[in-house]
Amino acid sequence: MTEQPETLFAPPRGMRDFFPEEMAIRNAIFSAWAHAARQSGFVQYDACVVENLDLLKRKGGEEIADQLYVFQDKSGRDLALRAEMTPTLARMVAARQTHYSMPLKWFAIAQCFRYERMSRGRKREHYQWNLDIIGEESVSAEAEVIATAVRALATLGLGPADVQVRVNSRALLADLFNHAGIAPAHHPAIFLALDKRGKIEDTAIADMLVKEGLATPAIDAAFKVLSLQSFEEALALLGSETPASAELASFLALASDHGIRDSVAFDISIIRGLGYYTGIVFECFDTARQLRAVFGGGRYNNLLGMLGGKPMGAVGLGFGDVVIAELLAEKGKLPSFHEDGLVHVGYMDESLRSIAIRLAASLRNQGRNVNLGLAREKPKAFFSRAGKSGVGEAIYIGPDDLARGTVRVKNLADRSERELSLQGQP
Ligand code: HAM
Repeated sequence: MTEQPETLFAPPRGMRDFFPEEMAIRNAIFSAWAHAARQSGFVQYDACVVENLDLLKRKGGEEIADQLYVFQDKSGRDLALRAEMTPTLARMVAARQTHYSMPLKWFAIAQCFRYERMSRGRKREHYQWNLDIIGEESVSAEAEVIATAVRALATLGLGPADVQVRVNSRALLADLFNHAGIAPAHHPAIFLALDKRGKIEDTAIADMLVKEGLATPAIDAAFKVLSLQSFEEALALLGSETPASAELASFLALASDHGIRDSVAFDISIIRGLGYYTGIVFECFDTARQLRAVFGGGRYNNLLGMLGGKPMGAVGLGFGDVVIAELLAEKGKLPSFHEDGLVHVGYMDESLRSIAIRLAASLRNQGRNVNLGLAREKPKAFFSRAGKSGVGEAIYIGPDDLARGTVRVKNLADRSERELSLQGQP
């Protein structure tokens, strides 16, 4: 048969298949996420991938609103695939707000769909670790979610030299814009426009701000705010402490207590492209700044109230599986596909099959993972198949072994051998 081009079998553009090699990477990432979340006392939840379109529709200005996969069911209901988890989380919390005692610390690993312009690190389907604290007003919540994400990064082998969390505050930006004489009514549009910096030309952003009704001096002032180089410069421009600046200072102190201060830096340019953030906002980037954000999040105190729930403080982040996998590949830290503890069992002829199966069953009962050969194999073929991984163990059963009542267990990593008695095996 002539080989078919791989593209013939490709999934729809931007969607992803996970072949076993890729699944191993995905599993390692998911397990680092879940482990870090549980270590910090977060509990897992999940929800439907299909949402009511009404929940996901936005007033405008946010890229995500134009990226929805929208459809109708056969009864004409307007639905969409979720592009993020946060509106769904807010809906679920609002449904049982009086039932739970606050604060809630919840995590999810959610498959999300966005009709994105494809680029490095951006697919139309991704998995996103969501880590949220609901019902906590103080910045200890921001510190807790960021410390948890930094711990997950450490589990994957990445530290402060590889990744940095850049932190800012929309409340601080609002203070700075107020100070520059820009009315609060304009702030939400300015946030979304300025978030596009680096993605589109400054002149195009200025045009957006003109359309928003801002005069040239106000636009210049907004850009000037974004040129501030440090938290100290921002404080100096404000002239005196504000609740927002005090909050940010307190967050940085808590980051020291968590032992993650060297992973965190103030960055005035972090604004975020989602409308619901109200306070501290943050994004994590690779230090070489080659890739898009590894994770992003912030405080969103108004979302529950906007959905009709009781207003309540909330903080959270979304951490995707695509950028982190790229970064791990770049750093040579991708997890191995081969399972370290696996035992391969093979046998020379049909008369030995029963003993091989019994041995495999016994080892499995003892908790070992066993890859049992399904047909007899020549020793060369067996060891070449089993040895490919370079890890785990191999047991090949021949007639002599049966006569001796023992088998040799070969360590595939260091080539050492040990004897295992067939007696006592069922
Ligand atoms: P986001 O910044 O839109 O935030 O997405 C968070 C992360 O998800 C990104 O940093 C990236 O790792 C990943 N991600 C997003 N879109 C894509 C894509 N098209 N392809 C691959 N990866 C992607 C949110 O979604 C917020 N809801 C996060 C949040 C939770 N805020 C509060 N709680």
